[in-house]
Amino acid sequence: MFFVFPSADAIAQHLSQHIIDTIKRKPNAVLGLATGSTMLPVYQRFAEQVQEHALDLSQVTTYNLDEYVGLAPEHPQSYNHYMHEHLFDKIKLDDSQVYLPSGHCADIDLECKEYSAKIQACGGLDFQLLGIGTNGHIGFNEPYTAFDSQTHVVELSENTRIDNGRFFDNWAEVPTHAITMGIQDIMQAKEIILVATGAHKAEVMANLFNSPIDEAMPASILKQHPRIKIFMDQSAASLI
Ligand code: GLP
Repeated sequence: MFFVFPSADAIAQHLSQHIIDTIKRKPNAVLGLATGSTMLPVYQRFAEQVQEHALDLSQVTTYNLDEYVGLAPEHPQSYNHYMHEHLFDKIKLDDSQVYLPSGHCADIDLECKEYSAKIQACGGLDFQLLGIGTNGHIGFNEPYTAFDSQTHVVELSENTRIDNGRFFDNWAEVPTHAITMGIQDIMQAKEIILVATGAHKAEVMANLFNSPIDEAMPASILKQHPRIKIFMDQSAASLI
């Protein structure tokens, strides 16, 4: 379940190839995608490989995990903007193939219900990519989120706002809330790979490794998934 790679680049290479193999096996694959700095080398390598292999992505659908509440899609720190800049525009995925929860809509409760329903309606996620927060969150499911949750709005913990605040000009601009796929939505994916890189993830990875399955450590539920792999570079694995 836990795998240690020599570097973040080695993870990116392996994971990119894995996603390509998934699409070759199932051209209409439904992919669950994540944001964060951890995914940048993965998306860069994947975009390069898609071009090298002239891979046909015309039947692929993607669903992102989460989005900040209150940021318009074109805001430079929105996850919508991140996905277009780092992946969708590079591999020419059409807007009709990509879904992100909207944190900038008139009726966010309806948006939550519809997002989980859309994932179900397309047959569920074939593959879910995950990062991890330093407090063990997956998506934006903070500690003590119910394991049976579906897409919902969360109040971000101070820890998460501090971690993600580095991308904003000042503290007042750091969003207080986010919309995220629930833990149940994530667990229903047929296969999950979580990635953690860097020394700042060493403590949470040791906690995850040692934790019982407990809502205090959201990522611990993944230990129950039949097809979960957890990829770490040597720095992230250094306290295990
Ligand atoms: C955010 C995202 C998570 C992501 C986490 C880690 O909080 N909502 O999905 O896993 O950050 O981000 P990074 O990869 O930048 O460490």
